[in-house]
Amino acid sequence: MEKKIFSGVQPTGNLHLGNYLGAIKNFVELNNDIKNDCIFCVVDLHAITVKQDPNILKNNTRETVATFIASGIDPKKSIIFNQSKVKAHSEAAWILSCTARTGWLSRMTQFKEKAGKDKEKASVGLYSYPVLMAADILLYDTTHVPVGDDQKQHLELCRDIAQKFNNDFKVEDFFKVPEPLIQKEFSRIMSLKDGTKKMSKSELSDLSRINLTDNADQIINKIKKAKTDPLPMPTSKDELENRPEAKNLIEIYSSLSGLTLEKSVIEFSGKNFSKFKESLSQVLVDKIQPISKEIKKLLSEKSFLDKILKEGCEKADKIASNKMKKIHEIMGF
Ligand code: AMP
Ligand code: TRP
Repeated sequence: MEKKIFSGVQPTGNLHLGNYLGAIKNFVELNNDIKNDCIFCVVDLHAITVKQDPNILKNNTRETVATFIASGIDPKKSIIFNQSKVKAHSEAAWILSCTARTGWLSRMTQFKEKAGKDKEKASVGLYSYPVLMAADILLYDTTHVPVGDDQKQHLELCRDIAQKFNNDFKVEDFFKVPEPLIQKEFSRIMSLKDGTKKMSKSELSDLSRINLTDNADQIINKIKKAKTDPLPMPTSKDELENRPEAKNLIEIYSSLSGLTLEKSVIEFSGKNFSKFKESLSQVLVDKIQPISKEIKKLLSEKSFLDKILKEGCEKADKIASNKMKKIHEIMGF
């Protein structure tokens, strides 16, 4: 079956190993299968749910495109565009916000985490963020959405919105109900400083993450300083359950080297962490360094990146405005 793939990444800078292993690596594989139609969106409207400096946002948008391409996404085989340039996204988000129920949104854990203690000060956009995400997905008759584990709840909401809209307006199958594509293993990469916290762009300490623009020295230094525990390397998979930092580092190693978790555990069983960290640094440098070099090269070719976005926007706009026309008919506008 032909799959229609859609996914989005926020242009909020510091794209990291979690973004790569949880999402972008999967985008590349899906894009390499000629049976798939892929759309990868730089979700700049999502980025402004928290304060952004306009000039930095513009650069981060280009950097996200550069990261897609440097990681192996072929712009000739997929549509790469930025959300704000395709007007149907904001319009569909409004319409779908009248389908979504406040009770559904109030259960979203990402809002609770991002809004923190003072919810009253969070933007309305941060609250309705998942509705815009549903609009992104549903405008393109998407069948599959590759994301990291943290987006699972948002995708369930998207499915609920699609189903309720189809029921409310008696338009069976108008919005396709999309399937999440979340990797079974290694779909949640944790901070290098705290194995119980997600690796994140917004974490203050740069030592908590491997950025996709890091060079070999930075990677080696970060792995050297990564938190571990006083015990030797685990001797079984079960032992990992109570050792979050060891678990995260071994998972990163497994994911990058294409080994099962069991095999990686056996490889380093009972050894000390410093030996393991050397091997981990090596696989990281082998994988990240070429990407990092390519990102830097592409960033000096601004007009090339802008052209990719412009062409992508034109293609996306055709699909989305066509769907929007049908939505207008359904709504009685
Ligand atoms: P964002 O940077 O929030 O726009 O996320 C872009 C993609 O990366 C989404 O599919 C996320 O689920 C994924 N992602 C972000 N952080 C992580 C992480 N620490 N581990 C795995 N996937 C992640
Ligand atoms: N919310 C996603 C994130 O933070 C980004 C996103 C926006 C997205 N629109 C999307 C992901 C549509 C998949 C499909 O990671």
